[in-house]
Amino acid sequence: MRFDLSEEHLAVQEAARDFAQKELKPGVIERDSTMAYPKDQVRMMGELGFLGMMTSPEYGGGGMDTLSYVLAMEEISKVDNSCSVIMSVNNSLVCWGLETYGTEEQKAKYLPKLASGEHIGAFCLSEPEAGSDATSQRTTAIDMGDHYLLNGTKNWITNGGTSAIHLVIAQTDADKGHRGINCLIVETSWDGVEIGAKEDKLGIRSSDTHTIMYTDVKVPKENRVGADGFGFKFAMKTLAGGRIGIAAQALGIAGGAYELALAYSQERSAFGKEIFKHQAIGFKLADMATQIEAAKMMVYRAAWLKDQGMDYAAASSMAKLFASETAIKVAVEAVQVHGGYGFVKEYHVERLMRDAKITQIYEGTSEIQRVVISRELVRNNAYLPIAAMEAETV
Ligand code: CAA
Repeated sequence: MRFDLSEEHLAVQEAARDFAQKELKPGVIERDSTMAYPKDQVRMMGELGFLGMMTSPEYGGGGMDTLSYVLAMEEISKVDNSCSVIMSVNNSLVCWGLETYGTEEQKAKYLPKLASGEHIGAFCLSEPEAGSDATSQRTTAIDMGDHYLLNGTKNWITNGGTSAIHLVIAQTDADKGHRGINCLIVETSWDGVEIGAKEDKLGIRSSDTHTIMYTDVKVPKENRVGADGFGFKFAMKTLAGGRIGIAAQALGIAGGAYELALAYSQERSAFGKEIFKHQAIGFKLADMATQIEAAKMMVYRAAWLKDQGMDYAAASSMAKLFASETAIKVAVEAVQVHGGYGFVKEYHVERLMRDAKITQIYEGTSEIQRVVISRELVRNNAYLPIAAMEAETV
């Protein structure tokens, strides 16, 4: 198992850190308070190549590996998790899903604008009554011969208010259960697509999360992704990669909170010395750093497995499960290290603590990650010990 950071990886990491500190940090508290969408910041992310990092250069992307994407997600998530979730959905759910499973025509038509950030994409799986239980799709895509007629409601849709392109998961043939589900590319300018109000959330407040209603939307047949009935598997395979992005986001939240707490503990004195020198605080920072180190190994390893073409479903769920729990624990402790200052917005850690919670919920709750992991333990011996696993390819 290797995940040495190459010169290229280090350059991506530095570029993302630089961008986050210089361009995202100055307005992040204000945007969190007002829920203002980070329009200029998203434009800059597009210009810098952060919105199509893994997309092939022939479709206008950066052609980078998953580890590069993880490193960039981590740095941006230390500062602004509204920006990093916008980035994550566009990169790993929309661009990656389309490039991996789309037709040549679909890729040529949609990817260049998505990868450059000219268009933003959304992944529309969740419904009011189908969140964790994703096979119970109520949205229907009825086969009308040359097109599908799409009807239904999706909710908790990241990029819901700003996206030009939706990947919509819908049931075509209820008798076939999950094998009757399709994924359709929908342009939001089409008749029948309606965007609900922006959600007022605990964290990631400036990202745009909306309910979307589809009423008799005509979707051309050529906009179906993959074979008829592949939609549920498309969602599962795409989410396995998406979860690496959210794991990287959680790792970034933990890292950002830790860095702030470490710096504060060396600036602040109490009882005649820096608070870091009190064992009560020094031990907290030791635990935080240890947990982050463990999470980092898991997240980088999941990215590495994906880059090697190996089976990464279990590793991705494990990384998301562990990193999101680390994000919560570390962010809560970072607030504690700051004392009263940690409870006010100016010091940033309370926002990171609020942002951390969603990483245990979206792209599969922690409970769903345990479902995936436990099934992988016995599925065709899919989860092998590390050495054996690395000899396997999928
Ligand atoms: N790759 C390929 N196929 C897969 C797969 C994978 N990783 N995981 C499951 N499948 C296949 C199964 O093999 C099965 O196919 P067959 O019957 O042909 O063998 C089919 O999918 C159904 O699988 P299950 O029987 O396991 O289905 P289930 O209903 O028992 O459970 C689940 C599936 C894992 C719980 C799934 O419903 C799930 O992941 N739920 C969570 C959904 C989720 O993550 N939502 C997040 C919304 S997106 C989001 O948050 C984005 C955002 O905006 C930030």
